[in-house]
Amino acid sequence: MSGGGLRDQVVVIGGGAKNLGGLLSRTLAAEGAKIVVHYHGDASADDADKTVRAAQEAGGQAVAVQGDLTKVADVRRLFDAAVDTYGGVDVAVNTTGMVLRKPILETTEEEFDRMFAINAKAGYFFIQEAGHRLNDGGKIISLGTSLLAAFTDGYSTYAGGKAPLEHFTRAAAKEFADRGISVNVVAPGPMDTPFFYPQETPERVEFHKSQALGGQLTQIEDIVPIIRHLATEGWWFTGQTLFPNGGYTTR
Ligand SMILES: NC(=O)c1ccc[n+]([C@@H]2O[C@H](COP(=O)([O-])OP(=O)(O)OC[C@H]3O[C@@H](n4cnc5c(N)ncnc54)[C@H](OP(=O)(O)O)[C@@H]3O)[C@@H](O)[C@H]2O)c1
Repeated sequence: MSGGGLRDQVVVIGGGAKNLGGLLSRTLAAEGAKIVVHYHGDASADDADKTVRAAQEAGGQAVAVQGDLTKVADVRRLFDAAVDTYGGVDVAVNTTGMVLRKPILETTEEEFDRMFAINAKAGYFFIQEAGHRLNDGGKIISLGTSLLAAFTDGYSTYAGGKAPLEHFTRAAAKEFADRGISVNVVAPGPMDTPFFYPQETPERVEFHKSQALGGQLTQIEDIVPIIRHLATEGWWFTGQTLFPNGGYTTR
């Protein structure tokens, strides 16, 4: 049984400074978790500072660590920070990702490499390093996309770049099972954050809304409790992809 609460659990959150990751950092900290808030760009440093402060004010502990997770050395440094600061790691959530909406015929080699570096390679080595460092009974959660259950144009390198996470997750779930570590993918529907809008037209936004319960986009407030559940009482899920999306897609 590995489904205890979050008090004093050490949680590494890739992309933990803002949007979905930021709310997750603050929510888990408020339950007494110790959070390692990863951020990437210099432009996210201010969000990381604010999230660390909010987490501390909510009663938890938190530190911020910058890194480019497409570099394996930076993934290791992130987990080093968790072990050095808090003595171990219990939960690792990777919310990092990058989106591109472009026809295959127009996609460049550089775009392909960049998309697969952050969505697939970083996802792989995040799971690998979590596997090295997690305490027994730990949890690993990666963020996919509901496009994994869709049949659509334009998202070949985004949905395609996220798709390997499912197989990395299934293999890791089997390979880490004897240590009681569960490994899952959470694949939300189109989510109301700044990540979503730049590649969509207003008409397409309305279409995406029309496909889910209540005619609305997925909200980060709807996703955080699902990640929280997987990190606690939901430990019996492993090797799975969950599609919290208000019925937007399924398979
Ligand atoms: N919003 C949606 O419609 C939607 C729907 C389904 C799934 N998702 C997935 O949900 C997750 C969270 O998305 P969000 O909406 O909360 O947007 P977000 O905050 O922009 O999340 C993406 C994160 O990835 C980080 N990142 C990008 N390149 C990186 C790199 N090389 N190394 C390390 N980190 C890097 C970004 O940091 P910087 O900004 O500092 O570069 C950012 O923190 C993503 O994995 C996304 O694919 C989003």
